[in-house]
Amino acid sequence: IKLGILASGNGSNFEAIAQAMENGQLNAQIPVLIYNNPGAKAAARAANRGVETVLLNHREYKNRETLDQQIVQTLRQHDVDLVILAGWMRLVTSVLIDAFPNRIINIHPSLLPSFKGLHAVEQALQAKVTITGCTVHLVCLEVDSGPILIQAAVPVLPDDTPETLHARIQIQEHRILPQAIAIAASQISHQTARREIAAK
Ligand code: GRF
Repeated sequence: IKLGILASGNGSNFEAIAQAMENGQLNAQIPVLIYNNPGAKAAARAANRGVETVLLNHREYKNRETLDQQIVQTLRQHDVDLVILAGWMRLVTSVLIDAFPNRIINIHPSLLPSFKGLHAVEQALQAKVTITGCTVHLVCLEVDSGPILIQAAVPVLPDDTPETLHARIQIQEHRILPQAIAIAASQISHQTARREIAAK
């Protein structure tokens, strides 16, 4: 299965996916990582692992749709089966979603449907919840919605800052994102196998 990764920043989730592939926990390839912020650490991490990187800087596109068109073209050129939003800090449009129906996965740092949108970790601290976590889900048009694949719970400690809490959540992200990708990937290969049998 070929994964197309979209990342905007640090890329620790990209690293976790690559690590899971290395350890044999995930049978996949990463033909391309797309990033939108020049200097994103995710791009350096990808280059270090020999993954092709493509910069699509949203500031150079007139709207979200034209950026997404370019993303779709890049993903198709690399024959991608499954798209992973691994810290992709842009809203996606129907241009991308319709091109990869039920084939886009997102990771979000809260137990959805709580704390959607930006600053989910800060939102959890402000709400004074004692448990938060992270969610891997399929992407649909409404932001941070769509069928949930895996969640992990994380305790909020009394002295937590956004940084300490986010670090604790990320440990779980790095565990459940590769797991969810493995599940989605095995579903896709079953679909492909069934189609091949039907075509005979
Ligand atoms: C993660 O916390 C993820 O849940 C959110 O953005 C962050 C990306 O982290 N969507 P990284 O760039 O993978 O380190």
